[in-house]
Amino acid sequence: MPKTTHLTKVQKFIPTSEPVLDGNEKKYVLDTLERNWISAGGKYSQLLEEKFAKWVGAKFAVTCSSGTSALHLALLSLGIGRSDEVIIPDFTIICSASTTLLTGAKPVLVDVDKYWCMDPKKIEEKISKKTRAIMPIHMYGNPANMKDILRIAKKYKLFVIEDACAAHGATVNGRKVGTLGDVGCFSFYASKNMTSGEGGIVVTNSEEVANLARIFRSQGFEKPRFIHRYIGYNYRLTDIQAAIAYAQLEKIDKKVARRREIAKNYIRLLKNVSEVSVHPEPPWGKSTFWMFGVLIKESFGRSRDEVIELLAERGIGSDRFFTAMSLQPVFLNDKSPNYPDVSGNYSVSRDVGARGLYLPTGLNITLDQQKKVVEILLSLRVKGAKIIKPTFVRKDKRGTFIEALNDIGWENVSYGSMKKGAVMGNHYHKKTQLFFYITKGAAKIDIINVKSKVFESFILKADQGVIFKPNHSHAIRFLELSNFVMGKSLKYDPINPDTYPFTVPEVK
Ligand SMILES: Cc1ncc(COP(=O)(O)O)c(C=O)c1O
Repeated sequence: MPKTTHLTKVQKFIPTSEPVLDGNEKKYVLDTLERNWISAGGKYSQLLEEKFAKWVGAKFAVTCSSGTSALHLALLSLGIGRSDEVIIPDFTIICSASTTLLTGAKPVLVDVDKYWCMDPKKIEEKISKKTRAIMPIHMYGNPANMKDILRIAKKYKLFVIEDACAAHGATVNGRKVGTLGDVGCFSFYASKNMTSGEGGIVVTNSEEVANLARIFRSQGFEKPRFIHRYIGYNYRLTDIQAAIAYAQLEKIDKKVARRREIAKNYIRLLKNVSEVSVHPEPPWGKSTFWMFGVLIKESFGRSRDEVIELLAERGIGSDRFFTAMSLQPVFLNDKSPNYPDVSGNYSVSRDVGARGLYLPTGLNITLDQQKKVVEILLSLRVKGAKIIKPTFVRKDKRGTFIEALNDIGWENVSYGSMKKGAVMGNHYHKKTQLFFYITKGAAKIDIINVKSKVFESFILKADQGVIFKPNHSHAIRFLELSNFVMGKSLKYDPINPDTYPFTVPEVK
């Protein structure tokens, strides 16, 4: 990792999210301890199920140990199993696929739309005789296009399982997600809009599904106990966890409103920034913006992963988006018959997964902290340098030919060979633009904008180039014996050179 100058010092680390336990959590937990009922099925489990069902607008709610177990319980309770297919989005967390596989069914991937949720236009081509269910995800709080998904489900008589694990309080036409399909699943993981540390809940209007979910949640136990009609699991939520979740539920509407407020702030702060695109809210509903996402555009000048690393160095937590299922090594390397077919077109999903990151969205974040996050994010843009992308590459037995600067007129081209440790540049030009291309070897590039003092540093390797803009002092330190080609946008005038010394501090 090259050493970089941090122009802005951040005193306190701003995490992506942290649980806020500012209600009755402690009181209710102490109550479970005093009542000596700490495992599942106590007072708070019952209260949580009743009140969550009421809040979300469903007839029944069944607590469980996680969002993942909620998804598994939903699939099992709808009778999905061997020889069935379940349609899931390609852009998702692995548990959409893994819970489907656990039932013996096969996940079938569908690309996402520009709101990061399953694209209904691409579902029908994936429906086969084996399809039993569609499992859309309300991604990062964005409600999926449920109207179109439900229409397709009705046409083909398919179940709809809503993964609302990260979307407590998101709505479509005023109705809360999780209640629009046959079953809805929520997570109570620590970063979610309501948490119990770990935990989850299944909601449905079907008494039969709710009863089955209760049976599968608890080892398949029925009456008489230990006589099994079904294979079940231990997916129970303890009453200690339920007590925490119940206290969180008391404040859920405030928490949802707060996340929307945080998103509104980010949208305003990033309004005229062309190098990122911000978390889009779909027109058919209200997002909770569980985690505020941005997509890093090519014009940012850095990769998404580089941005995350540099933000962390500057005290800002952020995290990468999920990676498309069609790119997962486990599915690419192992051709088990039930593993999803990864050969289709998942261009949106792959792109969003590669360029997306989420910014700190914890309920406690202040507006000043949000401003700091945006200021630091924007300071990472590579403004003075433009990485050259080849527009045409030809490789044959003679070697490699690269056309990279078709669109710019260049007055002067130089080339040379430099020894390891040699330094070139350490100055800037007021009018001249330079292009610098390494054909062999590697160099460390340091650039400082002499006006704003924004500093950038990166390694340039063989077959990579960079443009140095006017007023950007540049220093090139060769890390090994290297060959280079250099172009200048103006003729070199030895009598009156357009060259001004400015020492890049790191190179001295
Ligand atoms: C969309 C989605 N589904 C499922 C899950 C799994 O939830 P849990 O971590 O509670 O198992 C998550 C967790 O982040 C999620 O974001």
